[in-house]
Amino acid sequence: MLEKHKKLERNSMLLLMFTVIAVSIGGIIEILPLFRMQTTIEPVKGVRPYTPLELMGQEIYIREGCNTCHSQQIRPLRDEQQRYGHYSLAAESMYDHPFVWGSKRTGPDLARVGGKYSDEWHVAHLKNPRAVVPESIMPSYAFLAEKPYGDWRIKKRLKVLQSLGVPYTQAMIDEAQNDYEAQANPNTIIDPSGLQERYGDKVAVRDFDGNPDEITEMDALIAYLQKLGTDVDFSTYDPDYALKPQDGKPKTGAAK
Ligand code: HEC
Repeated sequence: MLEKHKKLERNSMLLLMFTVIAVSIGGIIEILPLFRMQTTIEPVKGVRPYTPLELMGQEIYIREGCNTCHSQQIRPLRDEQQRYGHYSLAAESMYDHPFVWGSKRTGPDLARVGGKYSDEWHVAHLKNPRAVVPESIMPSYAFLAEKPYGDWRIKKRLKVLQSLGVPYTQAMIDEAQNDYEAQANPNTIIDPSGLQERYGDKVAVRDFDGNPDEITEMDALIAYLQKLGTDVDFSTYDPDYALKPQDGKPKTGAAK
């Protein structure tokens, strides 16, 4: 063995050739699983793409750097589950582009903050965190309530996400601007039933920021926060679904 190795080490071309072979084998082993990425995300019943308003909320969440202080991934550890709820499923962030899992928790995890507090609490907290949590070190975001939504080019955003594999339909793209306004302002002439037809009955339609006169960035951010982690009904969720015999039926996901 050593003799053979000596030959290899004394012949630079031979050594180079074998090095290239060894490195490519390592490279292929690293890259191959990425081609099968789709198979690693189990579809789960209830997970839907963001509505235009929620999508803009996520945009503001990223713009303001909320993800530098808040994570959005509950790990399958007992303490985390007791504090935040069911561990995060891969499917729950499959429509996030970019994902906002975060890696630092200066504040608590927000993966399941949806429905935990009222809209009024969020408004008060975002305007002045110290008003509701005296020891809070979170910055104030009061200005969001003053900022009406600008030209967000919502249709284009939905189109881009569609090209990345988010199942937005043509109707969702065509109606994006109306859906945006209908969700935050039920008093407008726009009928929100189309929005709920497209995105499901669970979509919350209301004036999120307590100011029915205009749609502000606060509306969008709170709509987004209130949606987080609420897609999957964990009373019927069965994590072992895919492992069980399916009676010849196609596998439809991990929910019963
Ligand atoms: C400098 C770090 C920091 C930034 C940036 C930050 N937060 Fe916080 N956040 C905290 C801390 C600390 C708490 C815990 C104390 C409190 O409730 O205010 C918190 C609490 C929260 C809570 C309550 C969570 C719960 O379960 O009680 C929400 C919701 C929240 N933040 C949303 C946001 C949003 C939205 C943004 C961006 C607009 C943001 N935070 C930016 C630090 C931060």
